[in-house]
Order: sequence, then structure tokens, then C-alpha cells
Amino acid sequence: MSDEQMNDQTFGRLFIIMILAMSVLTVLLMYLASFASDDVNTRLDERNAVENSDALADRIAPVGTFSADATAAPVVVEPVVLVGEEAYASCAACHAAGIAGAPTTGDAGAWSSRIPQGIATLYEHAINGYQGDAGYMPAKGGNLALSDETVKAAVDYMLEQVQ
Ligand code: HEC
Repeated sequence: MSDEQMNDQTFGRLFIIMILAMSVLTVLLMYLASFASDDVNTRLDERNAVENSDALADRIAPVGTFSADATAAPVVVEPVVLVGEEAYASCAACHAAGIAGAPTTGDAGAWSSRIPQGIATLYEHAINGYQGDAGYMPAKGGNLALSDETVKAAVDYMLEQVQ
């Protein structure tokens, strides 16, 4: 046997060993992957159980329903009313740092000349907007989706910060 044949044989053996090793690895990985997907399926099942539960259906149920029955009492859908800091969220864009002439929240000096106008005027200016000497206050801070009550709550929140 020449050296060259030996090399060929050694190579052939190595090659077969490699193929076998990779096959074993492949099977092993497939086995592990099936575990991982079991885990995912279990979690999907758990989530479906939650999503199909009555509690969730209640939580995402519409606030009101329409009825074709004319004798039924009308369904009144109350606009969402936010309070406190949540109500103030869309005002913060200008009022947190006093942008565009807005009186800064918490800065008593900036509010001292405004508070004497009375709460009704402050509400009115916040809800309908107004042009003052300092700048332009857009109606509802530009977020017209806010209910009047929410805007009032936001004004209350801002006034609490300077008391
Ligand atoms: C785009 C900027 C901006 C946003 C957003 C904004 N404001 Fe203002 N606001 C102003 C400016 C500017 C003034 C001052 C106008 C002036 O007096 O010249 C002002 C003034 C006010 C005043 C004082 C009114 C008065 O009569 O002195 C109140 C109250 C007020 N804003 C409430 C709110 C509330 C509540 C929100 C959120 C719902 C809000 N603002 C969102 C710019 C803004």
C-alpha cells in the first residue's frame, strides 16, 4: 500500500466519521427543537385559554350596544373621563417645560396672574382655546378627542401643582 492510498483511506474514514457525527448532531437538534416547540405550544394553549375566558370577553366588551328594539331605553355611551396626571398627559407637551409661552406647570409665578381670572375662565380657555399675550393655547391642547371633563381635570391637576 502506497502512502497515497493510505491518505485516501484515512480521508475516507474521516469523511464517513464526519458524516455520521453530523447526522447524529442533526437528529439531536431535531429532538431538542421538538422540545422547544412543545414549550411554545403549551404557552399558546395557555394564552388561548386566557383569551377565550369569560373574564376577558367581559373586559373587551363594547361599552354600549345598539338595539333595534325602539322601546328599549337608549344606551348612553359616556365619553371616557381621565383624571389627574393621566388627563394632563397631552398638556405636558407644552406646559411641562413652558413651550411656546405656555405657563409652566408647577411654576407659581407663571400662574399667579391667571388664577385670579377664576376657574370657569381657565376651564373655558382650556376647552375652547384662546390667544393670549404669551402665545396660543389650542382648544383642548390640540387633542380634541379629550372630553370636556378630562380637560377640566387636567386644569385641576395643573392648579394643584401650584398650590
Ligand atoms: C401646543 C401647546 C399647548 C398645549 C398642548 C396645551 N397648552 Fe395650555 N397653554 C398654551 C399656551 C401658549 C398658553 C398661554 C397662552 C397665553 O396666555 O398667551 C396656555 C395657557 C393655558 C391655561 C391658562 C389659561 C388662562 O386663561 O390663563 C390653561 C388653564 C391651560 N393652558 C390648560 C391646558 C390644558 C388643560 C391642556 C391639555 C388638555 C393644555 N393647556 C395644553 C399652550 C398649550
